[in-house]
Amino acid sequence: MTGLRRRADGRPLVMITAYDHSGARLAERAGVDLILVGDSAGMVVLGQEDTTTITLDQMVTFASAVSRGATRTPVIGDLPYGTYEANDDLAVQSARRMTREGGARLVKLEGGGPMVDRVRAVTQAGMPVMGHLGLLPQSIHQMGGYRAQATRASDAVTLLEQAQALELAGAVALVLEAIPPEVAAAVTATLTIPTIGIGAGPLVDGQVLVWHDVLGLTEGRLPRFAKPYAALHRTIVDAIQAFAADVREGAYPAPEHSYAMSPQEQEAFQLARRRLPQTGGKGGPDPQ
Ligand code: KIV
Repeated sequence: MTGLRRRADGRPLVMITAYDHSGARLAERAGVDLILVGDSAGMVVLGQEDTTTITLDQMVTFASAVSRGATRTPVIGDLPYGTYEANDDLAVQSARRMTREGGARLVKLEGGGPMVDRVRAVTQAGMPVMGHLGLLPQSIHQMGGYRAQATRASDAVTLLEQAQALELAGAVALVLEAIPPEVAAAVTATLTIPTIGIGAGPLVDGQVLVWHDVLGLTEGRLPRFAKPYAALHRTIVDAIQAFAADVREGAYPAPEHSYAMSPQEQEAFQLARRRLPQTGGKGGPDPQ
């Protein structure tokens, strides 16, 4: 497939989520291998409770912004909850919108079992699919919360079988979320396609994190696997406070932020202005 192999130099793949044009440009400039337009957008961008309410229209809008920003990096578009599970036709239709309108090179969908058929159908329709096993945020209500998966041997075996079935169905890569490192390592060793972990330990082919978690945009409690590499929430609040202080103290805008008008044009303007009907107004500073 399409460059989605463990890198030839043996280094792990790096994937980060992005949701807009400027974020995609920055991620590409930073040299990531893959950009995921995750349905985590529902939570981190739209402020929704979980990832079950974001729509395909919204995801396609985010994906198209990201695809225009990242022109050299493969963009993967998450198919949101309710847009692929019911049958193969629905899955193909949604994947087609995500690739055609959203510009995504691949789509991602969650789950094994019946989703194996959806992966096969979308693949056969010509669109590469990334699978997703372990913690499935779209099934959070059935899973009883955000907790580690496949921690019992029998569940680990089921996950391994599902991973194999997804690969056989044509999946080109697999996200493994919140599972023990031993299970992720076994899946990685068993499959030929790359595995990309999030809370799945180091023995996978790549790692993915959510934009807001990497940059420290999220305040409050983070998932165990999240590692902030900056504290942008502080930088952003500081910058906005500095702007507000400048405005309140009259330090912004300075002359260099304003546009020029020649003295002759200014004088002509003031003369013309005095001839206009007077309408009161709020008063305040007037150059004349
Ligand atoms: O939606 C998302 O951000 C994801 C990642 C957590 C893998 O699916």
